[in-house]
Amino acid sequence: MPKVKISALGCYVPPGVLTNKDLERMVDTNSEWIVERTGICERHIAAPEMATSDMGTEAARVALAARGITGAELDAILVCTVTPDMLFPSTACLVQDRLGAHRAWGFDLIAACSSFLYGLTTGAALIAAGTHRKVLIIGADTMSRIIDYTDRGTCILFGDGAGAMLLEPAGESDAGAGFIDFIGEIDGSGGDFLKMPAGGSRLPASAETVEKRLHFVHQQGQQVFKYAVKKMYEMCSEVLERNGLKPSDVGVMIPHQANRRIITGACERMGLKPEQVVINIDRYGNTTSATLPLATRDVIEQGRLKKGDLVMFAAVGAGYTAGASLWRWAY
Ligand code: UT7
Repeated sequence: MPKVKISALGCYVPPGVLTNKDLERMVDTNSEWIVERTGICERHIAAPEMATSDMGTEAARVALAARGITGAELDAILVCTVTPDMLFPSTACLVQDRLGAHRAWGFDLIAACSSFLYGLTTGAALIAAGTHRKVLIIGADTMSRIIDYTDRGTCILFGDGAGAMLLEPAGESDAGAGFIDFIGEIDGSGGDFLKMPAGGSRLPASAETVEKRLHFVHQQGQQVFKYAVKKMYEMCSEVLERNGLKPSDVGVMIPHQANRRIITGACERMGLKPEQVVINIDRYGNTTSATLPLATRDVIEQGRLKKGDLVMFAAVGAGYTAGASLWRWAY
């Protein structure tokens, strides 16, 4: 089976910024509380005319340009998102059309904050099967469209953004770089703790669902927090252990960015040093499906990620969903 590598990366973040000070004028909160409890200073918010497919297409274009290819060369496009432009057609179809990716098939993948991690794994399986040579994984979310800006428990957390990674078969020149392993877990018993209750077949949109604000994110923060710290630690420890690796072998840990304290809590328990861990939640907040590519871009730009480094991606989110994957960086 061919080995799979990440061969290019692209990101897009909308220019509009919502600072903690801005939020102080919207809800009963203060910047010190937000920074201390979450690590977030600001988040980017898409302009009203911009939707998830627009941000996803922008990120995809950057990734394709970085690799020097066009959309016509893609075999598949997976869009990881909880905020598709609409339920159908899929956002993957909308992006495919705009990229001129006339050979590609694709679909949307919904796993909340674990979406991009699951997308990477699914895309890697398509390449490993030998049936695909270029698979584009896009993580894009316009969280501002499903956030209740009167709820201080959630509105401080989320931001908008997009990222894309291109997956291809690894060759001999890649010297063993690429996908190593993935471990995932879902636990639907935690579904009530973080959800958008209405808009699906259970509670279709009605005047009542709108009035009750059921088309927004509802969260029991402490429950999610405790699960996230525990699961991130468990997933990462297990994937390292079953590959005979130690935390000190990790070059860069790229975790989902939901709360700085979740990341530091899980990573300290694992024995990872702060310099191994990427945290950029201060500038973007929780962009749901876009956090992993955005954090990867930052670590590359900082010169902290080099060819051959062991990279661990990890995510926990609504569902519950969780997982961790190991890669050797290929470029
Ligand atoms: O990717 C998965 C997505 N979600 C998550 O991972 C979120 C996980 N949860 C969290 O990040 C945290 O639980 C929050 C940041 C949401 C909340 O932080 P916390 O430390 O768990 O606070 P809390 O909910 O226990 O609330 C403590 C206090 C409460 O006041 P009282 O009852 O002690 O008087 C809250 O009402 O803080 C209050 N509070 C706020 N105060 C100022 C809650 N939100 C705010 C706020 N500003 N924005």
